[in-house]
Amino acid sequence: MPSIADQLSAKLGDAFASLQLPRELGRVTPATKSGTAPFQCNGAMPAAKQAKCNPRELAQKIVDAIAGDALIAAVEIAGPGFINLTPAQSAYDARAAEIAGDDRAGAPLTDAPRKVMIDFGGPNVAKPMHVGHLRSSVLGDSLQRLLRFRGDDVVSDIHLGDWGLQMGHLITELREEQPDLPYFDADYSGPYPDTPPVNIDDLARLYPLASKKAKDNADRLELSRTATAELQAGRPGYRALLNHFIAVSITALKQDFDALGVHFDLWKGESDVDPLIPAMVEDFKQRGIAELSDGAWVIHIAREDDKKELPPLILVTSGGASLYGTTDLATILDRKANFAPDLTLYVVDSAQGNHFQQVFRAAEKAGLVKEGALEHVNFGSVNGTDGKRLRTRDGGTFRLADLIASAIERADQRLKEAGLAADVGAEEHARVARMVGLAAIKFADLQNYRTTNYVFDLDRFTSFEGKTGPYLLYAAVRVKSLMRKAADAGVKPGRISVQADEERDLVLALDAFGSAIDQAIDNRAPNALCDHAFSLAQAFSKFYSACPILAAPDDATKASRLALAEATLKQLELSLQLLGMEAPDRM
Ligand code: ARG
Repeated sequence: MPSIADQLSAKLGDAFASLQLPRELGRVTPATKSGTAPFQCNGAMPAAKQAKCNPRELAQKIVDAIAGDALIAAVEIAGPGFINLTPAQSAYDARAAEIAGDDRAGAPLTDAPRKVMIDFGGPNVAKPMHVGHLRSSVLGDSLQRLLRFRGDDVVSDIHLGDWGLQMGHLITELREEQPDLPYFDADYSGPYPDTPPVNIDDLARLYPLASKKAKDNADRLELSRTATAELQAGRPGYRALLNHFIAVSITALKQDFDALGVHFDLWKGESDVDPLIPAMVEDFKQRGIAELSDGAWVIHIAREDDKKELPPLILVTSGGASLYGTTDLATILDRKANFAPDLTLYVVDSAQGNHFQQVFRAAEKAGLVKEGALEHVNFGSVNGTDGKRLRTRDGGTFRLADLIASAIERADQRLKEAGLAADVGAEEHARVARMVGLAAIKFADLQNYRTTNYVFDLDRFTSFEGKTGPYLLYAAVRVKSLMRKAADAGVKPGRISVQADEERDLVLALDAFGSAIDQAIDNRAPNALCDHAFSLAQAFSKFYSACPILAAPDDATKASRLALAEATLKQLELSLQLLGMEAPDRM
């Protein structure tokens, strides 16, 4: 059964069509003002403009056409021609029963599933992850959950940065530290020792050392560049080292992402597509897609109507190296061969806008993809209280692991202050603190439209009051607890009969789940679902204070209210899940 809003839209659509007017003008949406009828249709005004007639008169014709419909209890025309609609009680009852009995809590599956590739996370081997990677991970993960839930065929790929200058830096620095390792022999040919010569802490130590030295010293930079070029040309000892670096990093990253509750189908990296590069470059040269410019092979992508000048994408440098754009193009080929996505979403910082524009245009020019099949899902920055990009006290980049640890620590304090999760045992308390801490940072990130910059403020994020992740977890826990109480008292959910205003408002909130999901997917931004979860929790809280379950006058009312609570919990938990959050059973 469609949502009440969609049922009304279909009715009004018919009415518009019967007057030879576009069906879409019959779209019905929840009323913007409270205290009025719950739904409105604003189509009479544009329709009257088209038909060159009076909008109120036209609205009256629509109202006449739907008169007596069983779905509608009341209809009135307001202002210049707004049509305000009140659904019939039976519509609320039927819809509530449907949501209560549906595993998907009333959100429909898509009837046009697509194959969607999501490229997100994007950490770099050796370089620590920072808040930009957090945003990408939280947003990308929620998007993959949403798309899968609605029925698309989704593959997610972490797309590790494991192919650029940072690998040359690592090799150079390791060589300086341990020159006797066999990997540095010019004639090294394996076998590759199984034991990696470094662990993750070594990697985290070596990279900043090398990058600092390269900044201060041109010769050092040159050494790293040469090592990168030799690696890319296939020098066996360096390839062996690269494989070690990648394996060590992946092990550590998997732990971090598991802890964050973020999943990737593919753990591929830039280096995986290296074998595709020579043939791709050759093909581009043959077809005139790539052109020679100052010894480098480039793809011109500027268009006449561009407002700002876009430099060409550098495919191969004059030194023979492949760059970030090269691996991104080869990755498009790889994905096409293995999955053939209809749509690829790149969930990456807005700062990389030019890069993606170059890559997308180059891919289109080379005929690798249809126009519009590649999309940069960009996002804004996370700032400190000073309004500048979040930094550590010593001015460095904020590391993801530290950020998460501090959120969990703050959540733990909050729980203690509020006397929550107090009698559940130390282990369970720690588990709850982790859920609350993660929910705090994830919700704070997702509740803004993605291009908004926001201030990282753990005090606000971890509060149990206001529009926060912890508030929503607490709301879910409360519903769980009152349902346990009802079960203990022998009450069973039963037929829903919507009586009180608060019950009706709760059903209206429940009714909007599917459209919140559609909006989140259309905008590639889950903030619509955050808004939905928050309104649902608020509607429930009003419902519950006006309509207690155990104190209800009769058994039928108890059963009806309990069924509403159960439907709410299911939808709230699904919403949390789609946002990458999880509520404990108690706290
Ligand atoms: N590793 C990159 C970075 O840290 C992000 C990768 C994004 N994905 C892509 N296909 N380029 O900035």
